[in-house]
Amino acid sequence: MTQKKQRSLLNRGDEACKILKEHIDEGDVIRIISHNDADGLSAAGMIAKAISTRNGQFHISIISRLTDNFIKKLANEKYQVFFFCDMGSANLPDLSHLHGNVIIADHHQPIDSETNSNIIHVNPHLFGFDGSQELSASGAAYLIIRGLEESLASFALVGAFGDMQYYNGFRGMNRFIVEEGIKNGSVQAHEDLRIASRYDEPLYKALAYTFNPTLPGITANIEGSREFLERIGVSYAIKFQDLAAEEKDILKSELIKINPEIFGEVFTDKRLPPTIRYLSDFAKILDACGKNKEYGLAIGICLGEEEKSLEKALNLQRRYREDIMKGLEWIKRERPKKMEHIQYIYTKEKTLKGVMGTIASISFSLGLSDPNLPILALSRMDNQVKVSARATPKIIKMGVDLGRALRDASSNFGGAGGGHDIAAGAMIPYKELENFLRLVDNIIGSQIGES
Ligand code: C5P
Ligand code: C5P
Ligand code: C5P
Repeated sequence: MTQKKQRSLLNRGDEACKILKEHIDEGDVIRIISHNDADGLSAAGMIAKAISTRNGQFHISIISRLTDNFIKKLANEKYQVFFFCDMGSANLPDLSHLHGNVIIADHHQPIDSETNSNIIHVNPHLFGFDGSQELSASGAAYLIIRGLEESLASFALVGAFGDMQYYNGFRGMNRFIVEEGIKNGSVQAHEDLRIASRYDEPLYKALAYTFNPTLPGITANIEGSREFLERIGVSYAIKFQDLAAEEKDILKSELIKINPEIFGEVFTDKRLPPTIRYLSDFAKILDACGKNKEYGLAIGICLGEEEKSLEKALNLQRRYREDIMKGLEWIKRERPKKMEHIQYIYTKEKTLKGVMGTIASISFSLGLSDPNLPILALSRMDNQVKVSARATPKIIKMGVDLGRALRDASSNFGGAGGGHDIAAGAMIPYKELENFLRLVDNIIGSQIGES
């Protein structure tokens, strides 16, 4: 069964690749439109890289959401081929009006699967895979470009890390990509400490910035991290990579006592410079570029423009992490407000708005929110509210589907939303906020009731 659906998805990727290749060989500029998060940036970077290796040309736009207006703008463009990543599955009817061929590499829940003949749609949901856990948009893009350039599997995993699809391992098509990457030398897997920024930050910071897996007392706690290292007698101010072998051993045995998951499978691409060699670090660097709207920088890093770009991205990441820390302190103080089936946090403050989705995700594992209730992070934007909703695998097992809940609830109040079962978003009018929350609470309640 798995073999069969895998084969069908791979075939769809190959069909899309054939079209892409024909356009490149014709000398057509490939019009790439992708999402502004780590997954979308990795996907766009990977496709650009593959096109470059064949001396083809591309034109990239990175956007936060595919709006009707943007599609109208594209409809006036004379490109022969449009390549959408991390979006498009919800817009099939509109995309059928574009002039050229349309390739979609998406992993969001599609609204319908009927497509016009100009569209080739690569989405794991269409083949029985779970797009929130088993394949990212970078993964879907990889399934298309692997017929063009086989050495880019690491980018697919960067996207999967960015979308938090690593959860005690990679599953489904992500696993297939890991195995293919290892076979052709573009990915390596080994057992190691799963800590962040081992090459770039002093150890006490690297540990404090290790959100996944979490280290109670250390994660998001710079002071706690430093005290821990002093107590176990390991140099805290140098980078992990520069520790003496015996210090690394002490660190490992002490960290395992705190959380055994800290030691496990890590994924690297040894062709990449140290800052982005560990693929989970690469995802965070792209995330920081995305959050700062430095899309050109992100794509440049994917294309291999290294030293200066990486230095700049690291500085963005440092600032972004400080904001995340502030956000976590805030949520620790304020604590989410609870309704019957959901909890929420709300802000008008600029710094917090930029990290609301991220701190909502992290809040579960840090014990800052109730692990049994989905969390809605609400940011006031003038007359509208931006909603980021996050759940856990345990909540999903209870029948919750945030993408559906937010799509239905927001459309009821003239807003728009959608996403995955485990992570979704929406934009709604501010004046409807309370009604919206009540409706989401009801919908989630009935989702749990039905299952
Ligand atoms: O648009 P897209 O699918 O890329 O965004 C997914 C979002 O969901 C990311 O921000 C990712 O971090 C988040 N996510 C999460 N928890 C999960 C899976 C995804 O917070 N378990
Ligand atoms: O949901 P969203 O994509 O914003 O979450 C991104 C995830 O990436 C966070 O949950 C966090 O674990 C991780 N992250 C990180 N360090 C950063 C930024 C994000 O570990 N600087
Ligand atoms: O913005 P945020 O990171 O919270 O988005 C989480 C998920 O919800 C992403 O997959 C995003 O593409 C999706 N989303 C959506 N429609 C919106 C906002 C977000 O489908 N209006």
